[in-house]
Amino acid sequence: MSRIVYVNGEFLPEDAACLSVFDRSVLFADAVYEVTAVVDGGMVDFDAHQQRLCRSLAELGIDFDPRAAGLLELHRELIRRNALNEGLVYLQVSRGVADRSFLQPTTCHPSVVLFTQTQSLLETAAAGTGLRVITQPDLRWHRRDIKTTQLLYPSMMKTLAVEQGADDVWMVEGGTVTEGSSSNAHIIRADGALVTRPTSPDILHGITRAAVLDYSRETGAAVIERPFTVAEAQQAREAFITSATAFVTPVVAVDGVAIGDGRPGPATHRIRSHYIQRSRERLQY
Ligand code: PDD
Repeated sequence: MSRIVYVNGEFLPEDAACLSVFDRSVLFADAVYEVTAVVDGGMVDFDAHQQRLCRSLAELGIDFDPRAAGLLELHRELIRRNALNEGLVYLQVSRGVADRSFLQPTTCHPSVVLFTQTQSLLETAAAGTGLRVITQPDLRWHRRDIKTTQLLYPSMMKTLAVEQGADDVWMVEGGTVTEGSSSNAHIIRADGALVTRPTSPDILHGITRAAVLDYSRETGAAVIERPFTVAEAQQAREAFITSATAFVTPVVAVDGVAIGDGRPGPATHRIRSHYIQRSRERLQY
């Protein structure tokens, strides 16, 4: 069955859904996006994704009001039309269609695209086996806090990691880990403290990261927000990534060095279970 996709006011079969070749997202990656997880047909942290979208749009000066556009209803309708039970909703808002020019046009209207993707999120192979990551220099631009569609470098690095027999990359800048190709990076020290890079323009302010930190603090766990080095990660008791689609997924090796005993650890397992349980209690339909 072909998916139903939303483009600029219309719900269309995916083969009929089109965006102009002059769309600023195509020519300049002049667009922002969000990926919202869907579990049991309900959305995880929709409000937080909408807030981050507003911030990304404001940073780029794209004049679009998600509330006025009824994005929540569009998400619900797309989930309904595609009978999506588990997977994700991808949303993209670009500056719009205009003749190719480096000068950002002021008169065009934002283009809006939404689609769903079916994907197992609760039961994944990676949650059981853990991920092996390699490190690479972080050569992205310095506004990684804006969730733009400029994803070429992370896509190249993810591909490189897989070509080298690993699962993903952790990017490094100034001697410390910034984040994964499409996830935030965290370690658990020998004393049980969760160490994670603070939010800044260096990283995307992950919605899953924020939820995991909140839930961890609620359970009394020590959370330390500071950058950590690759060597610290290699000596950590456990390590994991967070993202809307990975939830909380263990990392078991960094540059070929096993973390702990090289298997997913109990703390990461607890954090993942807790995150899933709390998210399911708060699903938005
Ligand atoms: N990526 N850092 C980067 C660079 C990301 O691309 C993502 C998410 C995250 C985690 O953010 P969140 O917890 O809000 O999903 C961190 C999404 C899932 C993607 O591009 O598919």
